[in-house]
Amino acid sequence: MASFDGKTVLVTGGNSGIGEAIALRFANAGAKVVITGRRADAVETTASLHRNLSGFVGDVSNPEEAALAVKQAAVNGRLDVLVNNAGIYGATPLEGGSNETIRSLYEINVFGLTFVTEAAVPFLKEAKGSIVNISSVVARYPSPVTSHYAATKAAVDSLTRSWAVELAPYGVRVNAVSPGPVETPIFGKVGLPEDVVAQVKENMRTSLLVPRLGTPDDIAGWVIHVASPESSWVTGQILGVDGGAFLLSAR
Ligand SMILES: NC(=O)c1ccc[n+]([C@@H]2O[C@H](COP(=O)([O-])OP(=O)(O)OC[C@H]3O[C@@H](n4cnc5c(N)ncnc54)[C@H](OP(=O)(O)O)[C@@H]3O)[C@@H](O)[C@H]2O)c1
Repeated sequence: MASFDGKTVLVTGGNSGIGEAIALRFANAGAKVVITGRRADAVETTASLHRNLSGFVGDVSNPEEAALAVKQAAVNGRLDVLVNNAGIYGATPLEGGSNETIRSLYEINVFGLTFVTEAAVPFLKEAKGSIVNISSVVARYPSPVTSHYAATKAAVDSLTRSWAVELAPYGVRVNAVSPGPVETPIFGKVGLPEDVVAQVKENMRTSLLVPRLGTPDDIAGWVIHVASPESSWVTGQILGVDGGAFLLSAR
């Protein structure tokens, strides 16, 4: 595994699930990592897991808080890696969906990711660093009932490609990792009964080409690889890490 000794990393939503696994990978590789999240207790708990981790409590969809998170992570004015991982999931059926949920999906998954990136760009340029956005396989196929979640992730894919071109002159690479279904607390946050969630996950699992849900570590390993110098010729890519979920959409 590549060393990130002396490097600085910001992982948004680093206090849970995929973000926590990513933060720990970078910390174990020697980086100083700042994790963010809105829940102070969860930020503190994750930050206590490794001496290279520290926490920032804030909401990425608030531009001032996004900028403060970046400021904390950019030690000596440079930031080597930004992982835009913070995100929410939600059901938004066309009939009976809540406008508040739709708004939150875009505010966090798209605007939040944008605010953090805007604040980080000057520091990433200084370091000739790299951005890894966490997208989702559902960005690339129809997603009834979770249509707006999928649309926010399609926006993430599009922003990834555009920003890769925009930041290339400064030596900053921009890529996305696009997970399939991963076992994390996110499924418990959509407001569905536990037995329904369990059934949904079981349906997902049995339909995958690799018939298991992903683990946060399955995703974290690719994030660190994409951010490492070993991937220095890779930019503007959307890397599927999905147990074959994307191919299933073509069946
Ligand atoms: N699990 C999957 O199957 C799956 C599949 C594809 C893509 N993804 C994507 O992977 C990413 C991580 O998801 P996960 O599954 O690990 O879910 P998770 O365990 O629910 O983690 C989500 C993280 O985002 C943070 N967050 C949410 N809203 C935030 C806000 N406004 N400001 C700052 N932090 C915020 C949460 O912290 P607080 O609650 O403390 O704010 C938490 O740390 C998301 O972008 C998700 O869309 C997940």
